Amino acid sequence: MNLEEIIGKCGSLKELEETRVKLLGKSGEITQKFKELKNYPPEERKEIAKELNQLKERAQQLIEEKRKVLEEELLQKQLESEKLDVTLYSPRPGGAVHPISATIDRIVQFFNSLNFSIELGPVVEDDFHNFEALNLPKYHPARDMQDTFYLKDGNLLRTHTSPVQIHTMLSQKPPIRLISPGAVFRRDYDLTHTPMFHQVEGLVVDEKGKVSFTNLKFILEEFLRYLFGSETKVRFRPSFFPFTEPSAEVDIGCIFCGGKGCRVCKQTGWLEVMGCGMVDENVFKAVNYENVSGYAFGMGVERLVMLLYRIDDLRSMYQGDIRLMEQLKW
Ligand code: DAH
Repeated sequence: MNLEEIIGKCGSLKELEETRVKLLGKSGEITQKFKELKNYPPEERKEIAKELNQLKERAQQLIEEKRKVLEEELLQKQLESEKLDVTLYSPRPGGAVHPISATIDRIVQFFNSLNFSIELGPVVEDDFHNFEALNLPKYHPARDMQDTFYLKDGNLLRTHTSPVQIHTMLSQKPPIRLISPGAVFRRDYDLTHTPMFHQVEGLVVDEKGKVSFTNLKFILEEFLRYLFGSETKVRFRPSFFPFTEPSAEVDIGCIFCGGKGCRVCKQTGWLEVMGCGMVDENVFKAVNYENVSGYAFGMGVERLVMLLYRIDDLRSMYQGDIRLMEQLKW
């Protein structure tokens, strides 16, 4: 029996174990030979037993050695297959601008080209800037439209970007022509609302008579056709905001059904995309502006992103799932 050869050709731990059983198991070949000892004449048995014991020890030793070699090989194989090769080519592309940032960039680009400056206000606001100066006195029912996060010190997280109007008018003289993108906060969370979202505010103020609703209408129509395509239908619907008078909500013809009526536009054929109006006299009073007129508008960025990218669960925007983000690249 050539033990070296038999054990040496075992290619795996499983094979080695099978070989061990075949040689040294209960009915293994070597075990068998021990059992046959009794068939030999007593004077020969001692010598044969000695040889058999040597054979058995040799087999055990060779198997142990082989086991070490095989275990080591297995470990190496595992290490190699589990090794992270950071130099490997990966078909997964690098980063991209988030759809919300990309959309804000596009909005800002449009208004920048029309000489609007960019103004950014604080995210933590006081009651005066967020409500009072915007013609939303305490206990005014319209405050309920915006479920506010209040801070312990009496300040609040701004519920809209409109307070930037106040900051700017208090620190600059007219004419004013601003656009203000930024994060806003409301106690709201469902398919189409997240507690933090983004708005873009617009404000134009000049000498009385220089700024009209017609100007406002023109600029927003141009803007929405820039964003949604030159064929986009736009309509202005009378509405109410405390800081504008008259006020309007702006709708675009439903981009999903072309105006026929569908689930997204709730069978109306129209999608509401922003609010606007002529700045209310009370707002000018709060910032000590006289003999001026102006218009303002505000839009929710996430709403626009959902329409532009056709996403129906807003919350997916904030989960950073690379498989989704990949599909949303501009
Ligand atoms: N601030 C409003 C909101 O949060 C949006 C808005 C509507 C802003 C009309 C305006 C405006 O400047 O004129 O829903």
